[in-house]
Amino acid sequence: MLKVEQLHQYYGGSHILRGLSFEAKVGEVTCLLGRNGVGKTTLLKCLMGLIAAKDGKVEWEGQRINSFKPHQRVHAGIAYVPQGREIFPRLTVEENLLMGLSRFGASEAKTVPEFIYELFPVLREMKQRRGGDLSGGQQQQLAIGRALASQPRLLILDEPTEGIQPSVIKEIGGHQKTRRARRYGHSLGRAVLRFRRRAGRPVPGDEPRRDHPAGPRRHHGSRWRARAGGNLIQDSP
Ligand SMILES: Nc1ncnc2c1ncn2[C@@H]1O[C@H](COP(=O)(O)OP(=O)(O)OP(=O)(O)O)[C@@H](O)[C@H]1O
Ligand SMILES: [Mg+2]
Repeated sequence: MLKVEQLHQYYGGSHILRGLSFEAKVGEVTCLLGRNGVGKTTLLKCLMGLIAAKDGKVEWEGQRINSFKPHQRVHAGIAYVPQGREIFPRLTVEENLLMGLSRFGASEAKTVPEFIYELFPVLREMKQRRGGDLSGGQQQQLAIGRALASQPRLLILDEPTEGIQPSVIKEIGGHQKTRRARRYGHSLGRAVLRFRRRAGRPVPGDEPRRDHPAGPRRHHGSRWRARAGGNLIQDSP
């Protein structure tokens, strides 16, 4: 479980996160909603250790991880797909995916796991193409594939469906295809914390809720939270 308590973050004098607290449980998809500039990306960067939280506590699987560097968080089972993708434009698609295996030993990190190509067939087709030559939506699939390659227990996605055509969004999030796709591929609100159960277990959070007022994004998560002015203003029932 991810537990955030009284998180504060500033950029200079701007107080962006103001005592944010929430929990997100394994097996759930938690969506974070909020208007532009409200601090969604800032929160996700804090969770990944890309910017240090000024005050408060971030706990993952019972361990306080505030002092963990990003690579240590990856080793702890957290993966992050940043807003804007940040793939390596000069590396091939395959090389980008191999980067996602960096938390494994050399023998395990030699080949891209097959389930990534099952989930995103376009990446197989374009294996040898440079990442920077992919379309925006294809790059987004590459960024998600790279994150999934580390086989995370917590997947953090920032604006994951930005630039992806509806049919691919449906495929990623679909209740379809292989068990792998089902286990890894659920999607996605504006910013999403994605959890999966440990290997071999189903994901109870995969059934979308239809009974809350989060508008068209309501099908994308099992829980959602809305932010405004640095605070949480609404929480799912
Ligand atoms: N490096 C930075 N230095 C100073 N201010 C920043 C920095 N990064 C973000 N901000 C400011 O912090 C606020 C929150 O930004 P953030 O990127 O977290 O918003 P967001 O909710 O992700 O927005 P969007 O929906 O547009 O992606 C914004 O007002 C932004 O201008
Ligand atoms: Mg953002």
